[in-house]
Amino acid sequence: MPRLQRVPEPHVQYAYGVYLLGHKHPLIKALKSRHQPSVHGHRSWDAAYLLMDYLVHNPLSSGASVMELGCGWGAVSTFCAKKFAASVTGVDLDAQVFPYLDVLAEINDVQIDTQCADFKKLKASDLGAHQVIVGSDICFWDSLVGPLVKLVSRAMKANTQKIIIADPGRPTFYEFCDQVAQHYPLQLQEWYSVEPDKFTGEVVEIRNSKK
Ligand SMILES: C[S@@+](CC[C@H](N)C(=O)[O-])C[C@H]1O[C@@H](n2cnc3c(N)ncnc32)[C@H](O)[C@@H]1O
Repeated sequence: MPRLQRVPEPHVQYAYGVYLLGHKHPLIKALKSRHQPSVHGHRSWDAAYLLMDYLVHNPLSSGASVMELGCGWGAVSTFCAKKFAASVTGVDLDAQVFPYLDVLAEINDVQIDTQCADFKKLKASDLGAHQVIVGSDICFWDSLVGPLVKLVSRAMKANTQKIIIADPGRPTFYEFCDQVAQHYPLQLQEWYSVEPDKFTGEVVEIRNSKK
């Protein structure tokens, strides 16, 4: 069992070494009055905790260069920066998520670069500049499957070492895994988190066979 971590004030959660803010926290309430994400980036999703747990058991090298796709509030970016001293870029289509990410980074004393971009349009050079690409709950529409498969291909050709994506187990995610498996070795595993709660889902790790 994880060590009990007391939180400093109400509506603060602690998971995998990262402080997170709940919807009733005054900072989040203030942000919500000004910034309303519109592509499902209005909270931290459970798959983010699956990915954190997976990375605890399958750690990144210290100081790794990481890109988080569809970062939303940036819980995974914050975790990677905190746990692995990673140099992280959080990418999201929706600029409204970044004020939440900035607050999360600030309260956890980490620095995260952000890029407002459609991940479908990220160039091979952008992707290949990062050793590791991560994402949680980013394959939730049929229209995202094909572009994410192509993104994997561009990243692998550009020498990204591995891509790790967590998901609650949506049909679109399995379709993504099936299509990627036709071209690249991958490991798809059922996984669960233990902090801040038990959430179950899947994590896929796609390795670059050239590395
Ligand atoms: C379900 S949320 C997950 C957020 C975060 N990864 C988490 O687990 O808490 C999906 C996120 O992907 C972003 N997103 C959706 N389509 C995108 C695209 N084509 N390019 C970049 N970001 C995208 C949304 O704005 C949103 O922040």
